[in-house]
Amino acid sequence: MEEQNLMRLQKYIALSGVASRRKAEEMIQEGRVKVNHQVIQTLGEKINIETDLVEVDETIIHVEQRKVYIMINKPVRFVSTASDQFNRPTVLDLVKNDFNERLYPVGRLDYDTEGLLLLTNDGDLTYKITHPKHVIKKVYVANVKGIPTRTKLDEFRKGLEIDDYITSPADIEVIKIIKGGCELKVTIHEGRNRQVRKMCEKIGHPVTKLKRVAIGDIVLDDLSGGNWRHLTNEEISYLKNI
Ligand code: URA
Repeated sequence: MEEQNLMRLQKYIALSGVASRRKAEEMIQEGRVKVNHQVIQTLGEKINIETDLVEVDETIIHVEQRKVYIMINKPVRFVSTASDQFNRPTVLDLVKNDFNERLYPVGRLDYDTEGLLLLTNDGDLTYKITHPKHVIKKVYVANVKGIPTRTKLDEFRKGLEIDDYITSPADIEVIKIIKGGCELKVTIHEGRNRQVRKMCEKIGHPVTKLKRVAIGDIVLDDLSGGNWRHLTNEEISYLKNI
């Protein structure tokens, strides 16, 4: 995790636009560069780009952080938090070699849920998408035991009492019959803890497999498990305009 924030000093200086990497190396050797007020003259030192203060010729320099927006198809048995108290693999392990930037998952998917998860270093966007006042639909494909009756499907749609709340209107359709049960397409507009599982359980059809396939207009399509891709410009503006 920490590793993601580390960068060679000469690279940092070059990215800030002050000088080329070669020239930055000379500046370091000439004693013109300070990290946290200490002159650094050896090449190859790594700095923490989030917390270290870098000065060249007594002037503080910055690297404008590139904004990154990606989607990943989270496999089961990965946590969607940035770190895990039980040291289980996290979704960030799947992308860490591709980015210098530190990325954060937008919202959560359970350890045993797979599918669409967005990752970004744009804190404003994360805040917006995860804020309860922005009602963004999320679509799941759930395999459940048994086949719900029309009455059960209607109960699900209208709202169910779960824990201490009533779920807001949702959508549910049977897509196909599978061995021992069926595959459902479920659309909800909230994101409470294990909500889809709890809702299906409540109507008597426990989930055996759960996959998120869309967040608003952003769809997972054929991205395979464990893979990621950059969002397109259209997808990014869609999210920013929500
Ligand atoms: N609902 C769940 O039950 N689990 C998830 O991961 C997401 C929604």
